[in-house]
Amino acid sequence: MNEPIIRPLLGDCREVLRTLDDESIDLIVTSPPYADQRKNTYGGIHPDDYVAWFLPIAAELQRVLKPTGTFILNIKERVVKGERHTYVLELILAMRRQGWLWTEEFIWHKKNSYPGKWPNRFRDAWERLLQFNKQRQFHMYQEAVMVPMGDWARKRLKNLSDTDKIRDESRAGSGFGKRVANWVGREKVYPTNVLHMATETRNRNHSAAFPEALPAWFIKLFTQEGDWVLDPFMGSGTTLRAAYRLRRNAIGIDIMETYYEQVKASLKDLQTPQLSLFEAQEAYEPPRPE
Ligand SMILES: C[S@@+](CC[C@H](N)C(=O)[O-])C[C@H]1O[C@@H](n2cnc3c(N)ncnc32)[C@H](O)[C@@H]1O
Repeated sequence: MNEPIIRPLLGDCREVLRTLDDESIDLIVTSPPYADQRKNTYGGIHPDDYVAWFLPIAAELQRVLKPTGTFILNIKERVVKGERHTYVLELILAMRRQGWLWTEEFIWHKKNSYPGKWPNRFRDAWERLLQFNKQRQFHMYQEAVMVPMGDWARKRLKNLSDTDKIRDESRAGSGFGKRVANWVGREKVYPTNVLHMATETRNRNHSAAFPEALPAWFIKLFTQEGDWVLDPFMGSGTTLRAAYRLRRNAIGIDIMETYYEQVKASLKDLQTPQLSLFEAQEAYEPPRPE
């Protein structure tokens, strides 16, 4: 494949998205401004107005996404007057009414969240990664994100019980069953829907960047080389860099000129590997059994 096309764009995504072609994008991965946070840098939206603000953007994303594509939305509700605000839950319902399927919810477990003390809760150590699709059949390359079996599972598979050797129907009556013995001799297994990744603050001039391993994981799971990835709130350009390294084409949009300039500079850097500021890293760390 040729060198990937990486296209950072400057502007308000509510306008810039209109310039993109219908059904031209395979995967959208993004982390929009959370309600009312970062007011002093790039502004925020009042939690009560969040759904009304986001829905027209979601409609444009629906237009540009291919029918087989996926939209991953990284978001977390904040605490307002002592309780979690419901704007994320309301957004999910509103997007379903808009025609999206809410296929899955992944959890990003932030392994290195800062310690702190709050009177009525513990520190936030996870965020939502909501998966939306336009239809039930979408592209998914599960083998691309398989993880090593690990010692715990290997030991477990050495000591199979009788139930392990037959299909163990779910006790909850869900109709799902498992045959543990199927996994004997395999080196890799499918991951869970919990991603254990540390936040990264090094080498980024952005207060809310996600780790590169996060978009990289979804890019591997939902796209192939040469596909198109979009981040309508690109920030420091993490999604674009992940796409470039994985040889996918990418478009990113940001309203702040400083971020746009920064992304352009970092991409130049990336395209000259010997000068790269960013370290290659493991995409996913499987959880350790207790
Ligand atoms: C949470 S940050 C994204 C961080 C990004 N994932 C990263 O790793 O650096 C949200 C970004 O959205 C941008 N933004 C806010 N409103 C926007 C809009 N209407 N159109 C485009 N970008 C916007 C902000 O400037 C900010 O950089």
